[in-house]
Amino acid sequence: MKYVGAERCGVCHSGREQKYIYERWSLSPHAQAYSDLSWEERRLVKCLGCHTTGYWERDKWFRGLTMAELQGVQCEACHGPGSRYRKPDVMNLKFTEENPLKQRNKKIASGLKYPTLDDCKKCHNEKCPKYKPLVIEKPLIDIAHPQPRGDIFLENEP
Ligand code: HEC
Ligand code: HEC
Ligand code: HEC
Ligand code: HEC
Repeated sequence: MKYVGAERCGVCHSGREQKYIYERWSLSPHAQAYSDLSWEERRLVKCLGCHTTGYWERDKWFRGLTMAELQGVQCEACHGPGSRYRKPDVMNLKFTEENPLKQRNKKIASGLKYPTLDDCKKCHNEKCPKYKPLVIEKPLIDIAHPQPRGDIFLENEP
């Protein structure tokens, strides 16, 4: 499974019907994670793992993809490399009353991750000189997906 870059997700996950998932991500701090580094910092390899997507997994870059297309914390930094699950036959499956689990499992088998708080902490930790503890109410606004299905955010509610 390879990283394909956020633009390829945006082809489908944009616009009104998709509640502007791609557009909202584009305006989020995650999308700016690379451009927010200074010119000097962008040369420090140790910083790029968390400020770009798939940096340490070059063997998993979709053919022809360059660093320019993997800047920032993109969809696949959270949802996993998408070359397989992005295919319409996997993606287009809707959750239905009949067999939601089977459909979810097919997506997972194709590499889709439903990120948990532990996944966030792989980047949100003291290894960054600018580390701030993750405040968990904000992500809902910042990541701004319309209907989170998991309960990763609930455990931290007062
Ligand atoms: C061919 C169009 C298409 C592409 C390309 C695509 N998606 Fe999707 N995706 C969909 C559709 C349609 C759904 C189902 C939406 C629904 O259930 O209402 C979906 C669902 C999802 C879901 C929710 C899964 C679930 O269980 O409901 C995630 C997460 C997701 N896509 C992420 C991505 C990412 C990341 C990429 C890029 C690597 C991507 N998609 C590329 C069409 C696409
Ligand atoms: C690949 C690494 C990575 C992962 C995974 C990741 N983040 Fe981030 N996150 C970042 C970086 C880097 C920034 C800083 C972006 C900037 O402002 O330049 C950031 C910024 C944020 C911000 C904005 C903070 C602020 O001060 O405005 C929030 C909120 C956030 N992340 C929440 C989450 C949540 C929730 C998850 C898990 C679902 C997550 N992140 C997963 C790297 C990551
Ligand atoms: C382990 C992952 C990780 C590494 C490695 C990392 N960062 Fe970060 N960085 C983050 C996360 C997560 C945030 C968001 C923190 C927040 O705002 O809560 C962030 C935020 C930042 C910001 C934005 C601060 C702001 O609010 O505008 C800068 C600048 C930054 N990091 C620089 C660096 C530099 C320089 C390095 C290398 C020396 C580095 N980072 C290495 C994860 C990382
Ligand atoms: C910082 C991590 C992060 C990034 C970046 C991210 N997502 Fe998500 N996404 C999540 C989390 C967390 C959920 C909720 C998962 C759950 O409910 O279990 C989610 C859920 C979704 C869903 C299902 C929501 C619904 O209402 O059906 C879709 C579709 C989706 N993401 C697509 C994308 C696309 C496309 C991108 C890039 C434009 C993207 N995501 C970027 C963390 C992220």
